[in-house]
Amino acid sequence: MATELAHCTQLTPSGRLRHLLTLTDMSRDLIEELLERAESYLRPPGEPPARDPVLRGRTVANLFFEPSTRTRASFELAAKRLGADVLNLDVNMSSRKKGESVLDTIYTLQAMQVDVFVVRDASAGIPELIAASVEPHVSVLNAGEAAVSHPTQGLLDLMTMHQHKGRFDRLSVVIVGDIARSRVARSAVEGLQIMGTRDIRLVAPPGMTPDEKLYPGTTITSDLDGALPGADVVMALRIQRERMTEKAQMMTTHEYHAKYGLTAERLMRATPDAIVMHPGPMNRDVEIAGDVADGPQSVIVQQVTNGLAMRMAILAMVMEARRDR
Ligand code: NCD
Repeated sequence: MATELAHCTQLTPSGRLRHLLTLTDMSRDLIEELLERAESYLRPPGEPPARDPVLRGRTVANLFFEPSTRTRASFELAAKRLGADVLNLDVNMSSRKKGESVLDTIYTLQAMQVDVFVVRDASAGIPELIAASVEPHVSVLNAGEAAVSHPTQGLLDLMTMHQHKGRFDRLSVVIVGDIARSRVARSAVEGLQIMGTRDIRLVAPPGMTPDEKLYPGTTITSDLDGALPGADVVMALRIQRERMTEKAQMMTTHEYHAKYGLTAERLMRATPDAIVMHPGPMNRDVEIAGDVADGPQSVIVQQVTNGLAMRMAILAMVMEARRDR
């Protein structure tokens, strides 16, 4: 499907963001622009949230064919704070369950003048298929595609690292968990490499090792203690049980935590000011100890705040790119 649709580019002829499907063909400049725009939507705690009426009169449809809490809530609030009407399609009630093709659902909603589709789906290629099929003024934003990509998460992760660490080029980043099934890891690594990060260490427990062809230029290991020294960023990931097809010889959660859990003791191997990240949802005391998740090095809550600001930035930028379509 991907080759067939390779002509569907996410950028307009002048390089503006029309759709957000993947980070792979994004330039450093475009990512920097998104980071700046997202920063402009942050407000100090206790103050009213930023609003910007750039989507007034527009309609955003959230189509989540897979569960989501953070991503869906933050896209909804982001669209509302930009002045859009928001439609949240309840997947259990939707016609997709009755066998309607995803494109028929899209055409139906497009006939109701939806301007932006935010799509999460368990099948690879769906955001690209939709982007290749919608009218020229309509945008598609990938909110999580199988184990393939999660570009808005990648961007909010970059934003969070940038806030704490400034430059990307001398950063050492450790990502630990179910790398093989993680779209979060894919997009984080793609984004970091575009921004110039060279030291990326992927720690995968047995059965969770990714295809190394998908991760050129990274170090893949199963030794967490060996990977942590010198790390500036440590990102823990959830075991993606819902994507396990084979009966993986899974360790018990207790064993997993003992070997691969990010504990306070382990974290001491990283640099003293290393930040701890997790995309959520977290399994406390499995991939991350509760006290680390709530501890002074954790930026997990800030990732959520940044996610909303980043989704506002993306929505605003695709709307502005309409001018040169
Ligand atoms: C992630 C996802 O859905 O890919 N969650 C998220 O978007 N914050 C990670 C996960 O489900 O483990």
